[in-house]
Amino acid sequence: MDLSSENLIPQVQHSDVGHGRGVYVSTYGCQMNVNDSERMYSLLEMANFTPVASPEQASLIIINSCSVREKPVHKVFSEVGKYRKLKQKNPELKIGVGGCVGQQEKENLMKDQPMIDFVFGTDAIDQLPTMVAQAFAGEHRLVKAQFQHRAPYHVETLVRNPGVSTFVNITKGCDNFCTFCVVPYTRGREKSRPLKHVLQDINELIGRGVKEVTLLGQNVNSYTSDCGADFADLMEKVAQETKIERIRFTTSHPKDFNQKLVDVMYANQPKICEYIHLPFQSGNSRVLETMNRGYSREEYLQKIEMIKKAIPNVVLSTDIIVGFPGETEEEFKDTLSLVQEVGFETIFAFKYSPRPFTKAARFEGQIDEVTKSDRLTRLFEAHDLMARELVKRYEGQTLEILIEAFDEKRGNLSGRSSQNKLVYMPGDASLIGKTMPVKITKAFPAVLRGEILPVQ
Ligand code: 5AD
Ligand code: SF4
Repeated sequence: MDLSSENLIPQVQHSDVGHGRGVYVSTYGCQMNVNDSERMYSLLEMANFTPVASPEQASLIIINSCSVREKPVHKVFSEVGKYRKLKQKNPELKIGVGGCVGQQEKENLMKDQPMIDFVFGTDAIDQLPTMVAQAFAGEHRLVKAQFQHRAPYHVETLVRNPGVSTFVNITKGCDNFCTFCVVPYTRGREKSRPLKHVLQDINELIGRGVKEVTLLGQNVNSYTSDCGADFADLMEKVAQETKIERIRFTTSHPKDFNQKLVDVMYANQPKICEYIHLPFQSGNSRVLETMNRGYSREEYLQKIEMIKKAIPNVVLSTDIIVGFPGETEEEFKDTLSLVQEVGFETIFAFKYSPRPFTKAARFEGQIDEVTKSDRLTRLFEAHDLMARELVKRYEGQTLEILIEAFDEKRGNLSGRSSQNKLVYMPGDASLIGKTMPVKITKAFPAVLRGEILPVQ
């Protein structure tokens, strides 16, 4: 890689490690991992591997693992176990484990499962072609899971077929240390990409037909560029200095969501979409304190008020944990009431699961599984009832939909509104990439159906 110019993103060089062999990447977990898998495919394609659709066709299988919630090592081992027969048939087959479990477990993984040929951490993705070359040259038990603490975060966005909408990493890692979360240990310290690199990436993607970018990071609001720009400044620059049609971002942290960002969102509509994913985790201030979230229920609600005041059509989604250590029935009810009070159209809710290295794993008052499951079910039931009512308002509305894909079998187009509502509608593939007015005919909690209106 060429690191000579600070203004230019270092480019990845092509090589011939793969000799055309098939590579299959199996992905678990969050959007960050989905994006990392795309990077792995791109790097390996540049090293002359051929991406294939199933493990059976591959000479190289990579498991991009997730350890945010339950039984991550078990999941990796059970997947590797499935490849026993493939390894017997094809002794050349190499199996590598990357992602958060790779970072967390390192060489331990290979001790317990000898079929694994190499393990690499979240900061070692760009070393993949070298590691794979070593593995095919006969080296066993390779591990690369050192964090590159000193290295700047200089990466080129690598996407094979970006389509209409794509993700652009702006930060990596997290320094927040919420007491339940393993991410600061598996993704390392927080780093931001230089602002110029982000703009350069987006311009390049626009040249490849991309209409919408989602700026991606564990905690985008704490973005701090080399030139002193914060996240709101970055959003403004992307909106004003590139020709991208739509901008999204995820994930935001309530403690860092400020008026400046809301003002930038308002001033740059409709380019900046009216959708915010703002995890609240618990509706109770005592629980939030023990989670080390840095805000109370009241402060969270104040942020919501600030957002809704400036952007009345905003749609909000959130992440919630139930059964955090010490959470009482009354405190759980505060979570139920916060969901109602804000009126989230979408929630992502999870049972608390103790994670290695984290403080909460050692807290007293761990909640039993039956209680956790009961709370989760009640939360989903209450939310479902509310969401069904909330989405009815879309019926009869006309929304501007960016068309993303065409399903040939069903003859359906799909796309999303500014508020991130997924919409299905009849039409043909020539409309992909266009933003069309669509009249909503039927609304379900997760999807809307509609008909494209003639453009005036
Ligand atoms: N247990 C349950 N859920 C968790 N999350 C993160 N860590 C844990 C854990 N230990 C959830 C949070 C976070 C989302 C990505 O995963 O809600 O926002
Ligand atoms: Fe985990 Fe908290 Fe960082 Fe989000 S902000 S990645 S929940 S430590």
